[in-house]
Amino acid sequence: MVSHAVGRVAPAEGQSLRRVKIAGLSTYVPPKVLTNDDLEKLVDTSNEWILQRTGIKERHIVDPGVATSDLAKEAAVGAMRQAGVTPDEIGFIVVGTTTPDTIFPSTACNLQHKIGAHNAWGFDLGAACSGFTYALTTGMQMVATGAHDHALVVGADVMSSIIDYKDRTTCVLFGDGAGAVVLSPAAEDEPHIIGFSHEIDGSGGPALQMPAGGSRMPASHETVEKRLHYVKQDGQAVFKFAVRKMEEIAHRLLSKHGLDASEIDLFVSHQANRRIITAAAERLGLPDSKVIINLEMYGNTTAGTIPLALADAVAQGRLKRGDLVLLISVGAGFTVGSVLLRWSL
Ligand code: UT7
Repeated sequence: MVSHAVGRVAPAEGQSLRRVKIAGLSTYVPPKVLTNDDLEKLVDTSNEWILQRTGIKERHIVDPGVATSDLAKEAAVGAMRQAGVTPDEIGFIVVGTTTPDTIFPSTACNLQHKIGAHNAWGFDLGAACSGFTYALTTGMQMVATGAHDHALVVGADVMSSIIDYKDRTTCVLFGDGAGAVVLSPAAEDEPHIIGFSHEIDGSGGPALQMPAGGSRMPASHETVEKRLHYVKQDGQAVFKFAVRKMEEIAHRLLSKHGLDASEIDLFVSHQANRRIITAAAERLGLPDSKVIINLEMYGNTTAGTIPLALADAVAQGRLKRGDLVLLISVGAGFTVGSVLLRWSL
């Protein structure tokens, strides 16, 4: 069954919701690089196939023992620095991740401890590749309602911990990385987050999943032998769903706010496959100049892709204060996320 929600952040008549802005953004990828050439030595694949079918050239991979909260910490510290906010001023932490440090305690707890956010509470959010868009929406509510003045929103994944480097259909796609933003109240005249539209469709579960390690199939010798603790994907089913849904949810969110796709300054999609992003952009009538693609350097970092793309857009001078930005994600679940905002940095 499909369910979706459309939310608004700007105060409506008679309501006292606060406007919310991104006050700081930072990202982190581990230094070790895994190239397409490296993968040619592990599985029956080629640089040409990977480049042509996905657009990916290389991805970053952690060293053994490095966990999601370690990447998240680096990004969080940078985001707080840019926002001019101390760890003690953070009231709420949400970490979108599919690869938590452990099932419990949460990565948010580990992160809170690592950064010394003594006044924060928080939790992990499981929405696969929509981890960042859903976490952004969740953090936004905490600031909009006045519950907290500053929220730390993280999208971080160590995908290399759940990738089967004997499976050529998945191991070429993913990488490790993290991004974080600090959300704060926006002044009357400041650019802010406009709204969101999200959707889930649980019938898509079998198309992209990790079968074992949860309550249905706890870890056993058998699950390990059958390699069930790794990502399994029906690539074509996910591909078709992603292209269709990106266009659909973009139109739904834009029309809710009386906007047209032609007014978008930058389309920041989840980075899974270059062909998915260009097909979606084409359907929305967006020229290349309004689309950021950086997956050639990182692969699919799941909850990390959108902040990594935002940071690269900033670094390339392609995002300026006031620009209309559309974020869209599609991932396992299925989950579909979209957030519309005016760039505030
Ligand atoms: O972020 C989470 C959401 N995930 C996604 O958005 C991923 C969506 N799906 C995709 O990006 C694409 O479907 C893939 C990149 C996963 C696959 O591309 P495709 O064009 O759909 O290829 P395919 O699965 O139809 O496979 C075509 C051929 C097959 O060979 P046969 O059956 O035609 O002989 C595969 O076995 O390519 C083969 N193949 C490979 N060959 C070389 C699959 N993986 C590889 C590989 N290297 N790594």
